[in-house]
Amino acid sequence: MRDQRRGEKLKLGAFFHPTGNHVAAWLQPEAQIDAGTNFRHYAEIAQIAEHGKFDLMFVADAVATRDGKLSALSRWPQYMAYFDPLTLLPAIAAVTSHIGVVATATTSYNEPYHIARKFASLDHISNGRAGWNVVTSSNISEAFNFGREQHYEHEERYDRAVEFVEIVQGLWDSWDDDAFVRDRASGRYFDPAKLHHLNHKGEHFSVRGPLNVARSPQGHPVLFQAGSSETGREVAARFAEGVFTPQHSLAGAQEFYRDLKGRMARYGRPPEALKIMPGLNAIVGRTKQEALEKYERLQQSIHPDVGIELLTNAVGGFDLSEYDLDGPLPDIPDHYGTLAGKTSMNNVLRWAHEEKLTIRQLYQRFAGARGQRTLIGSAVEIADDMEEWFRDYGVDGFLVHPATLPGGLSDFVELVVPELQNRALFREDYEGPTLRDNLGLERPASRYAAAS
Ligand SMILES: Cc1cc2nc3c(=O)[nH]c(=O)nc-3n(C[C@H](O)[C@H](O)[C@H](O)COP(=O)(O)O)c2cc1C
Repeated sequence: MRDQRRGEKLKLGAFFHPTGNHVAAWLQPEAQIDAGTNFRHYAEIAQIAEHGKFDLMFVADAVATRDGKLSALSRWPQYMAYFDPLTLLPAIAAVTSHIGVVATATTSYNEPYHIARKFASLDHISNGRAGWNVVTSSNISEAFNFGREQHYEHEERYDRAVEFVEIVQGLWDSWDDDAFVRDRASGRYFDPAKLHHLNHKGEHFSVRGPLNVARSPQGHPVLFQAGSSETGREVAARFAEGVFTPQHSLAGAQEFYRDLKGRMARYGRPPEALKIMPGLNAIVGRTKQEALEKYERLQQSIHPDVGIELLTNAVGGFDLSEYDLDGPLPDIPDHYGTLAGKTSMNNVLRWAHEEKLTIRQLYQRFAGARGQRTLIGSAVEIADDMEEWFRDYGVDGFLVHPATLPGGLSDFVELVVPELQNRALFREDYEGPTLRDNLGLERPASRYAAAS
């Protein structure tokens, strides 16, 4: 079975939390302390990832600061001073040439027309490198900035997401690829027969169209999805072309891989139309010992208030601050799982019950990697593990979460990437100019072209 993957290459994404994935990364003396609003920093890390031939860089998003205990929040910069990704990425596109530029935009607190327009614009500006991570918002505080007192329930927000994405895809087909003739001789700028109105009227949205952006280089920017619950998987099977997911064991990753790819036939999609890229919090050293020392330094810098707050978020806001840090996780009522993303909550509960971790051990595991799988070792050890997961059909690639930036990313590019290339597991050079070329995804035909 392993041999079937010969010739296939791993896909690699780089997740850019400004100062790095580790919650205590910003405390390290080498960190870019103001990273969230420092454009030169983002330009540098994008260029490092491109030098390492990464398929894509990804920036997550929330349309709110975090709410919670200020004693914890003030020690943890995430989303407190942060660029709007769709303002940042066009600027990154201008200082890079091949790497995919992928950002989150929420379907809970946006309008489809805005999102269709922004990502189509980004696709033009980047010459075909744009990707949209479709999320339903995991930060409950976002509701308060958009006229609501509560976040949408889990099912409702996915329901809205499906309609939202269908509209966006429809708007991206507003113009045929050759609609803009721009013919000075005849004085005709576009061909009216190649313009299409969407005329969508649905449960959540009503959008006439057309979009005021020409069909973009990739036809549709690449769609990513990052929810792994039952509904999340179904939605991913329907339209996602890349999936980000926390997976902590090869058996679990294989189950997820088989399950998700197996669902795609229902929507008339072949399995290779979707690339599964679990998160990898890789901490690489020249030796295992060096990597372990880096990790320990970071782990020891996690303030307990921050650890508890992160864990509280992961379990849907159930307040853990009054419990003994060295005691067990208390029972958490089921309904908290509908407020949180279910995936993180299930992982935390499993570690608590199966491995009998205390609250302190739980937050150290969760906060250190922000819910992703941690791999600590030399380049050979890390490449061995990645190879096993790839060859045994657990993944199509990985979303690497460098623990620190830029250092953790440079280490990966200098040490792990050449090791993967030597094993013919990763590209020596980009396959083509667009994100679709590199991910091995087809350019979608317009629904109108397909109809005719
Ligand atoms: C790698 C990764 C990146 C994510 N990025 C975001 C993000 O930027 N914004 C957000 O609101 N949620 C983000 N999420 C959360 C998911 O998109 C999703 O909203 C959450 O997991 C709940 O979905 P689920 O219950 O189906 O798992 C991310 C999840 C993962 C694994």
